[in-house]
Amino acid sequence: MTDLLSSLPLRDVESPNRIAVSPMCQYSCATDGLPTEWHRVHLGSRAVGGAGIVMTEATAVDPVGRITPHDLGIWSDEHAAALEPTTEFVRDLGGVPGIQLAHAGHKASKTRPWDGNVPIAPDGTDPTGASGWEVLSPSPDAYPPFDGDRPAMRKADQDDIEGVIDAYRAAAERSLEAGFEIAEVHAAHGYLLHEFLSPVTNHREDDYGGSFENRTRLVREVVAAVREVWPDEKPVFVRISGTDWLDDRESWDIEQSVRLADALAELGVDLVDVSSGGLHPEQAVPGGPNFQVPLAEQVRAGADIAVGAVGGITEPEQADALVRNNRADLVLVGREFLRDPYFGLRAAGDLERDPKDAAKQWPVQYRRAAQR
Ligand SMILES: Cc1cc2nc3c(=O)[nH]c(=O)nc-3n(C[C@H](O)[C@H](O)[C@H](O)COP(=O)(O)O)c2cc1C
Repeated sequence: MTDLLSSLPLRDVESPNRIAVSPMCQYSCATDGLPTEWHRVHLGSRAVGGAGIVMTEATAVDPVGRITPHDLGIWSDEHAAALEPTTEFVRDLGGVPGIQLAHAGHKASKTRPWDGNVPIAPDGTDPTGASGWEVLSPSPDAYPPFDGDRPAMRKADQDDIEGVIDAYRAAAERSLEAGFEIAEVHAAHGYLLHEFLSPVTNHREDDYGGSFENRTRLVREVVAAVREVWPDEKPVFVRISGTDWLDDRESWDIEQSVRLADALAELGVDLVDVSSGGLHPEQAVPGGPNFQVPLAEQVRAGADIAVGAVGGITEPEQADALVRNNRADLVLVGREFLRDPYFGLRAAGDLERDPKDAAKQWPVQYRRAAQR
């Protein structure tokens, strides 16, 4: 019986269990996109805490793709070198380091959440004095602002689109140099790739807008570029929003997500990480425990690909049940990993029948504390 503590084979990479740290922005760089002590401790603690997969926060493939001036980036060799000690640390603990590759599209150039999460104009600054920039959008006229004023934005032309694909490809190459084992393409939460997917934000009339085929073109081209440079032995994930939660209008929904998942499988994607929403302020998100699991389940049932479930998963038994009952192949835990960095060790303690087996999953340095 496969359960939460079973290993997860992904091509030649094996996660020791099916618990992943969900990507979570820390907005803790200076303004250069380079990781700081915060990132090393934050990601390192979750590796110590028994996560099988430690995924970075949304890591910008290009400076204009940062949500805030303080986001993590992977647009130069210097970034790759600076991330290497963290990937090495995660691997030394038996974990699998993953990186979420992101471009924020029209949700870029904002202040950090604790500074209000509002757009910074290209000639404006955030409270730290960091400048804003012009953001990229599939269709600027369709932009639904979540908060604050509309940012200064430009419609992505063919050169911009090629630039985005190239930036993802180069970012994947650098991620490999940095020692990451999983590359996750961020195509969810109303950021650039999701903006192209959804008819709510994509009103284009060229090859990248209109039909399902056209709206999914950019994400497919980005994934193909990443797969081209990412070794066959290593897995690629894609995070999608399973639905826009805008059932009252033409929008991105679960049927299209299933179709996209099938297309991604054909491009060599190994797992679809199914989140939701983030595109439009009028979204009606249900929330609560397991609130996105039915979406993951539908992708798993309808497409020939492994899925990750995320959202409202806080208890080891709850996570275990998702794997045991074939509802998901991997469980991603976000906020609970912030409350309890040792969630993975807690899961081992709660779920292993023999406490000795649970203790074996603790880092040797901490093992004396594993058994009372
Ligand atoms: C502080 C914070 C930062 C987040 N940053 C990201 C991110 O960088 N990329 C992403 O795909 N999701 C991000 N999310 C969403 C989480 O990955 C996760 O999908 C969401 O919190 C639901 O899972 P949970 O209920 O386990 O927290 C963030 C969530 C939080 C709380």
